[in-house]
Parts: sequence; C-alpha cells; structure tokens
Amino acid sequence: MTIKVIINGAAGRMGQEAVKAVSEDKQFTLVAATGRQDDLAAKIKETHAEVVVDLTNAHSVYTNSKIIIENNAHPVIGSTGLTPAQISELQAICAQKKLGGIIVPNFSIGAVLMMRYAKDAAKYFNHAEIIEMHHDGKLDAPSGTALKTAQLIEENKKNAFQQTEKELLPGSRGAVYETTHIHAVRLPGLVAHQMVIFGGHFETLTIKHDSIHRAAFMPGLVLACKKVNALSTLFYGLEHLLD
Ligand SMILES: NC(=O)c1ccc[n+]([C@@H]2O[C@H](COP(=O)([O-])OP(=O)(O)OC[C@H]3O[C@@H](n4cnc5c(N)ncnc54)[C@H](OP(=O)(O)O)[C@@H]3O)[C@@H](O)[C@H]2O)c1
Repeated sequence: MTIKVIINGAAGRMGQEAVKAVSEDKQFTLVAATGRQDDLAAKIKETHAEVVVDLTNAHSVYTNSKIIIENNAHPVIGSTGLTPAQISELQAICAQKKLGGIIVPNFSIGAVLMMRYAKDAAKYFNHAEIIEMHHDGKLDAPSGTALKTAQLIEENKKNAFQQTEKELLPGSRGAVYETTHIHAVRLPGLVAHQMVIFGGHFETLTIKHDSIHRAAFMPGLVLACKKVNALSTLFYGLEHLLD
C-alpha cells in the first residue's frame, strides 16, 4: 500500500521539486498535482488523498490548510506566512478531529539543526542577531525560519538582550522579535540562507546554514509525508519528526 499524496502549488519552484521527489519514492502515489485553477477540496475527495502538501504562498496557505483539514487529509504545510493566531486555530481544529499534520517552516534538516544549536547557544550568550537571506521571489519577511529561531532564542536566553541604540534611519536595526533583531535580505541569486550571530565577551559565535538548491528541502518533505499519518495533532516544525 502506498501513501496517496497531492502536491498543491505543483507548478511552483518548490512544487516542481516536490512532484519529482514524491514521484521517485516507491512509498508514495502522487494522485494529483494541483494549482490555482483546481478545486482542492474536490481533488481530495475524488482521489482519496491521505496527505496534501501545500507549497503555494503566504496569501493562500491559511485557506488551503483549512480545506485540507476539513476534508480529513493530513496537512504537510510547507508554505510560509501563517500567523501565530492562524497556527493556533488550525491546531485546535486538528486536535478536535484527532487529525495529524505538520507545519514545516523549513524542510531542510541542516536548517533544523541550525535552530537546535542556536537554541542551545542562547543559554550562554546575552546578545544575538539573525540575518536571513532569500531569493527576491519570496513574498513574506522575515522568513518563518528566522522567526522560529528568534522564538527559540527568546525562550532559552538567560538575560534580556540590551536595546540601547538610536536609529537615524528607521528600520536600520531590522525587525525585533521581543529583543532579538532580524535582518531580511532579498536578492536574485540567493536561495535560502541564515546566520545567527551571538555576541559575547571579546568573542562571537556564528551559526550559518545555506540551502544552495531547492532539492535540499526534499529529504525533510519526504520524511514529513511518510510520518504525518502517525501523528494525532498538528505539529509545528520538522524537529518533531527527526529523533
Ligand atoms: N518549508 C520550506 O522548507 C520552504 C522552502 C522554500 C519555500 N517555502 C515556501 O513555499 C512556498 C512556495 O514557494 P515557491 O518558491 O515554490 O513559490 P512559487 O514558485 O511562487 O510557487 C507557488 C505556486 O503556488 C501556486 N499558487 C498560488 N496560489 C495558489 C492557490 N491558491 N492554490 C494553488 N496554487 C496556488 C502558484 O501559482 P501562480 O504562479 O499561478 O501564482 C505557483 O505555481 C512559499 O510560501 C515559500 O515561502 C518553504
């Protein structure tokens, strides 16, 4: 028995890689590759899809997630841009239905490890800033990964980071999540990159991760599609499936 999978946003940059990865894995049957023109609810019903991967954009991810959940397919949400309130709402609906799913702001295993190491380093440093860099087609900023890294740093730091600067040009110091600054760069030529820089007493620690091709996201995506039907609620982050 194979797992029936739909890739939504299949014609996009990530979608095309996902179609390839799922089609090449013998544990899956790709039952549909959908896009903006398709009725996603009808496709799920028609194909009896068990897992739907959403790789669309920040504008449509919330609506798509609801459609997937309402039609009792396991969501694997790769699109970024869901707000914390939307994530909580989707988690409540999944809990009520006892439906397993996962929201994955970053499918790259290296990026998940970067977040894990940053979380640990936050306990030992009193200053940290995040620089994330993505291709110019990315619609949302900061990236879901940068936001999640900032959340982990804030949860684990022992002391409040100092905020003493005066901005001569508004925005010069980037966005601030609680006390962690996030700088977002958007340029053609980039794929997905992040640095977390910790400042200490006459030393810095830089944790850096680069995805140099979208194929880097596929092992994590395949893992999520294989494990999602064993979950009974909606998780946030690939780390829940790694160990
Ligand atoms: N989780 C991760 O590891 C990871 C990694 C990279 C990117 N991402 C995220 O994945 C998403 C896709 O990225 P991308 O670079 O592949 O974007 P993209 O190239 O713009 O592809 C998005 C695709 O979704 C389609 N689409 C838009 N609205 C839709 C809707 N309502 N229903 C169905 N399809 C729809 C688009 O069609 P049109 O061309 O007609 O608009 C396009 O084919 C983004 O949110 C990005 O931030 C996640």
